[in-house]
Amino acid sequence: MEKNIITEETRIPRHIAIIMDGNGRWAKKRLLPRSVGHKNGMERMIGLMEHAFDLGVSYITVYALSTENLKRPKEELDGLFGLIRNHFKEYMKRVCERGVRLRVVGNLPLLPEDIQRILHESEAETAHFEGKGINVALAYGARDEIVNAVNKAIALGEKVTEESFARLLYTADSPDPDLIIRTGKEVRLSNFLLYQAAYSELYFSEKMFPEFSDKDLDKAIVEFSRRTRRFGKTDEQLQE
Ligand code: IPE
Ligand code: IPE
Ligand code: MG
Repeated sequence: MEKNIITEETRIPRHIAIIMDGNGRWAKKRLLPRSVGHKNGMERMIGLMEHAFDLGVSYITVYALSTENLKRPKEELDGLFGLIRNHFKEYMKRVCERGVRLRVVGNLPLLPEDIQRILHESEAETAHFEGKGINVALAYGARDEIVNAVNKAIALGEKVTEESFARLLYTADSPDPDLIIRTGKEVRLSNFLLYQAAYSELYFSEKMFPEFSDKDLDKAIVEFSRRTRRFGKTDEQLQE
């Protein structure tokens, strides 16, 4: 049997965010339609969430659809919305049963109304849970989120601090991500969590998202655990 690389010494990130990229290329390589890639990606996402919570992670944010992705061909978007219509509630219920609160983060009015309803209903079913959380980023763009927060601040007529501004973001209820993982070979953030990522550790995987296994997540966590997070300080200061 393969050795478990996560040990008692491994520091488990409290909040992991994942840019789930590569569904389309995964499918193309197998001569399958992109929609099959998205379906496999969605199933992998659920498996990874279960594994992460089993390891002791408290918050997981997954980037599922960006504001820019809304410009993709109608056929692809219809496929993605179909997945949400047919599976979102049931899949989320499975993960959230262990006491996890679901939030959907993003500019939801940009989504079809029946999708918005499904998302709100799924959130409501978990509203009584606290301590552990899943954020699903849909119709999400960090610039949109920041502009939206600025407009909220203006409407409130109040000057903001770094902390009060964070509470105006879609992710108001979660701590900043400790670790951001991107699958699919690209090395960029693509408009994801630009404010919250200030001190996140970044990890890039060559694997396409549907093939990013639980073991791959373990590897990313072990790498995270080895890094020194200085938050601007010196090593000597950290020793104190
Ligand atoms: C990520 O996979 C999921 C979404 C953006 C919806 P892609 O669909 O971007 O897959 P690639 O990058 O084309 O392989
Ligand atoms: C980022 O992937 C968005 C999601 C994973 C939801 P993209 O496939 O949209 O990113 P780019 O266009 O290659 O930067
Ligand atoms: Mg992509």
